[in-house]
Amino acid sequence: MTRTFDFDRIIDRGSQPGEKWGRYAGRDVLPLWVADMDFAAPAVVLDALRARLEHGVLGYTEPWPALLEAVIEGIARDHAWRIEADWLVWLPGVVTGLNLACRAVGEAGDEVFTATPVYPPFLSAPANSGRRLVSRALVLEDGRWTWDRAAVEAALGPRTGLFMLCNPHNPVGRAFDRDELGWLGALAERRDMVICSDEIHCGLVLDADRPHIPLAALDPALARRTITLMAPSKTWNIPSLYCALAIIPDPALRKRFRHAMRGIVPHVNLFGLIGCEAAYRDGTPWRLALLDTLRANRARVMEALADMPGLHCASPQATYLAWIDCRAAGLDDPAAFFEAAGVGLSDGAPFGAPGFVRLNFGCPRATLDEALHRMTTALARR
Ligand SMILES: Cc1ncc(COP(=O)(O)O)c(C=O)c1O
Repeated sequence: MTRTFDFDRIIDRGSQPGEKWGRYAGRDVLPLWVADMDFAAPAVVLDALRARLEHGVLGYTEPWPALLEAVIEGIARDHAWRIEADWLVWLPGVVTGLNLACRAVGEAGDEVFTATPVYPPFLSAPANSGRRLVSRALVLEDGRWTWDRAAVEAALGPRTGLFMLCNPHNPVGRAFDRDELGWLGALAERRDMVICSDEIHCGLVLDADRPHIPLAALDPALARRTITLMAPSKTWNIPSLYCALAIIPDPALRKRFRHAMRGIVPHVNLFGLIGCEAAYRDGTPWRLALLDTLRANRARVMEALADMPGLHCASPQATYLAWIDCRAAGLDDPAAFFEAAGVGLSDGAPFGAPGFVRLNFGCPRATLDEALHRMTTALARR
């Protein structure tokens, strides 16, 4: 049976509590900020949740074999990486995993490296466990964001035990290639670092000829020093179900990670697990249709930005996020300027890059068109 999917339908999110639309309740501001999409979750996920609810009894439930199989087969199918059931640690969120990684590697006073800009919890996690953050800026080379390899190597010291990677990258939208990841793997080996690889956006690579490459899939030795974080939440738009996984092939590292969780990290909510199983097993047709929509939205964003003087954006290879450099536009506070024009964007400052904004194009085309129109008009009227 062929199912069609409607990514044009405008769903009134203001009628329900929610962060994205709640921030601007009662104001004419289109929210293109926090990273969730304005699309209903896949019907296969909603049906699975409904069916379980109908059963009525909601007792304690551990992850079950069909769920594990769906995840293991889904990751093998979508990312050519064959993981083992033993490697999995279930978590109520990827941010929990970032913080646990800091706790599980080294000791208080050690350093954690990450490159900026980056999703803000990367910047706050080290201090939450008494680690020191070391960061260097990504650089724009030939129109794509990447590491300044010499600067990164120079920043690492004897106490830098953990490298926090975001791939695909929020907010710059890079899906790092084999050469870049190979460099990072060799660096980790040389410096004896663990890498925590946040791959939450792995199902959202937009360029069809560019697969997501899980860092740990590059080679088994690298896998042994990697904590990979994945989740169904971004790809299938179910972030509030709070279900994520850490994939840790090395038993000793996994033990330290589990130790850091003891008595603090709760089990994953039953509905998170149910949504996860349905998404990984049956969510591919929806995901592929979503990617078509996001590719078209990305093209629309890039076309509109070309007509906005002073705004620059390297086309994202993955995610539904556009990272826009406004520094040449002469705006004191770009996020406040666009909010006053009726478009709510994420301010770059918490990502470590003031002067930038992040635009979320995971919304129906009509919403996106109106937001881009408001931005263009506001810039022209200045
Ligand atoms: C890179 C990245 N990691 C983690 C998260 C959040 O993960 P969770 O809600 O599972 O904690 C986000 C959400 O935007 C993200 O972009």
